[in-house]
Amino acid sequence: MKVTVFGTGYVGLVTGSCLAEVGNDVLCVDIDVARIAQLAQGIIPLYEPGLENMVRDNQKAGRLHFTTDIKHAVEHGLFQFIAVGTPPGENGSADLQYVLNVAHSIAKHMQGYRIIINKSTVPVGTADKVKCLVQDTLDKNTQHIQFDVVSNPEFLKEGAALADFMKPDRIIIGTDNPRTTELLKVLYAPFNRSHERIIAMDIRYAEFTKYAANAMLATKISFMNELANLAEFLAVDIENVRQGIGSDSRIGYQFIYPGCGYGGSCFPKDIKALIKTAGDVGYNTELLVAVENINNRQKQVLFEKIMHHYQGDIKGKTFALWGLAFKPKTNDIREAPSRVLIEALLAAHAKVQAYDPEAQEEIRRVYGDKQGLSLCNTQDEALEHADALCIVTEWKNFWSPDFDAIKHKLRDTVIFDGRNLYQPAQLKSKNIQYYCIGRP
Ligand code: UDX
Repeated sequence: MKVTVFGTGYVGLVTGSCLAEVGNDVLCVDIDVARIAQLAQGIIPLYEPGLENMVRDNQKAGRLHFTTDIKHAVEHGLFQFIAVGTPPGENGSADLQYVLNVAHSIAKHMQGYRIIINKSTVPVGTADKVKCLVQDTLDKNTQHIQFDVVSNPEFLKEGAALADFMKPDRIIIGTDNPRTTELLKVLYAPFNRSHERIIAMDIRYAEFTKYAANAMLATKISFMNELANLAEFLAVDIENVRQGIGSDSRIGYQFIYPGCGYGGSCFPKDIKALIKTAGDVGYNTELLVAVENINNRQKQVLFEKIMHHYQGDIKGKTFALWGLAFKPKTNDIREAPSRVLIEALLAAHAKVQAYDPEAQEEIRRVYGDKQGLSLCNTQDEALEHADALCIVTEWKNFWSPDFDAIKHKLRDTVIFDGRNLYQPAQLKSKNIQYYCIGRP
């Protein structure tokens, strides 16, 4: 089948390459000329395990193409996916300008029936806006052309994006036309083989489902962080509690890891947008506001522990920092807790020696040559002449380090761990002071 995907970010590129992988003829389009030139040569502008190979294989097989030619892109696909960004706009609401620009472009060039599918996370009612915009943009020669607008939110996680797309938990199809549902069922059939994963519903319900899923996951995390902070006052180990409650199948083990806060391109933005949506209709979402506030506070927790340890004076101290990406297996540092920590440490006149397996370039891009911040080539190098070690992202390389070497290198033999990677008893036996989240 012929597919066009607008937007070559995480969602667009993964959608395009996975649909090509199962045999479709996919054209990915972006207004960023440099990005498309790179992609055409098989150079991927983001780090996602497996994606580069998948893009190259499908390019070679002639199933995946890249273009900046919008007219050609609209001609190409019966399915026109919109997978562009919806960054936080004014007052936290999702900025829809990119989505609406694409809808406008599709309408301008449409010469026959098209299914316009929104994959971007957009507030309830956006599909209606897209529909009106397309209808209004059609001119007297194209007014007769039929089109459908579908909400088909994407639930992929960075770092596991290909697996999430190829084997989704569910495929949500929000439409007001049963014929469109049938066509999308055909498109998604290769991802729907072992059991029925497609859930069809009204467009607005599908749009809301995406926010509801992210809000539920973010709530689980903030809930656990709240309990972890309380556990510290009660001399209770939250790790035992986590296992104790996770074993209840109604609660489950996933997304109950306490830590130094959630980051990324979705949770922080989507919670804000949902709070804004609620406010717009006059509903005060006390729970979501609390989820957001708890998370903002949680991103300060490591710094607070550091200040407590050093009795408020860290001027001239050097901190090794392991992990900059908002989570492992990505180079994404959007809303990353590492940034809050770096900025707090530098503001307190400390120095930071940071290392991340993938996110160094991103940090360099954001901070440039910021005074007091140096980027190291290895995790060991970050420890050289450092006073203490901070861990913000749970990359696997950090799980089982040589504690004796760490002890030897650090001036103060103290570790501040925002991801609870180690056993407190083990570090105690090595005479390393260990601060983590919610553990005595
Ligand atoms: C999330 C959703 O999982 C995905 O379905 C949606 O499509 C996009 O948003 P992503 O942002 O890639 O995906 O990352 P995710 O793995 O969900 O982690 C988000 C944040 O939560 C990370 O900062 C992570 O460290 C944090 N987290 C996650 C915790 O602090 N504790 C947990 O138990 C799980």
